[in-house]
Amino acid sequence: MTLSTFSRRGTEAMLALMATAVAAYAFIAYGLQPAGASVGEAMQQVYRLNPIVIHTHAFAAGLALLLGPWQFSTRLRTRRPRLHRWIGRTYLLAGIVVGGVSGLLLSRIAQGGWVAQLGFASLAVVWLYTGWRGYRAIRQGERAQHRRWMLRNHALTLAAVSLRIYIPLFLASGVPFEQAYPVIAWLCWVPHLVVAQWWLNRGRTSVAEALPTMAR
Ligand code: HEM
Repeated sequence: MTLSTFSRRGTEAMLALMATAVAAYAFIAYGLQPAGASVGEAMQQVYRLNPIVIHTHAFAAGLALLLGPWQFSTRLRTRRPRLHRWIGRTYLLAGIVVGGVSGLLLSRIAQGGWVAQLGFASLAVVWLYTGWRGYRAIRQGERAQHRRWMLRNHALTLAAVSLRIYIPLFLASGVPFEQAYPVIAWLCWVPHLVVAQWWLNRGRTSVAEALPTMAR
């Protein structure tokens, strides 16, 4: 195993771990506690008035976060292709479609004013779009394109992780929530898309080589 493969796998494992931790947070906070029990007072009030949409979103998007990393496992793809397909369908339908539409609905009532609301709404639209492109590509038998779109899509799913890292970081740096949140609503996903595109554009000889290889 080369040093770069070692560090790449380490990064992938760390991302998968963080994704699982945030998914676990969503399931526990919205499955075992009253809606919004773990967030600030203003958010809590909004969630109590909209329990269906917040619960739908937390569970569906949490599922996407939990399932996503497994889809990049070459071992799973090659040895258990049926499982890869079923996880993929669940990820796209339950995770992205339900999680994305509920995320879009939530963006209208999100904290942080119109800048934050636009940031979340844009994320939801791009999340749904990349998922749709990934699905369409595989239905048309274009595997390389499918992987590229799903990599972009999963980079966006990981916005949920960055968001929950940035909020305490901004607050600890003394930036008030009202100022931090509109910035974070964009910062949590735009750089992810840029990094995913950079990764895909790197001068690799084949797309398969350029994609993550978790648990190979
Ligand atoms: C990638 C597309 C996503 C969009 C567009 C989106 C959108 C939103 C919006 C607008 C809110 C309300 C924020 C507010 O009230 O100010 C929210 C809250 C929430 N989202 Fe998402 N979200 C996405 C992904 C995810 C993922 C992948 C998870 C996985 C766990 C997730 C879990 C949650 C949870 C648990 C909340 C409630 C707030 C909290 O307890 O932290 N979201 N989301």
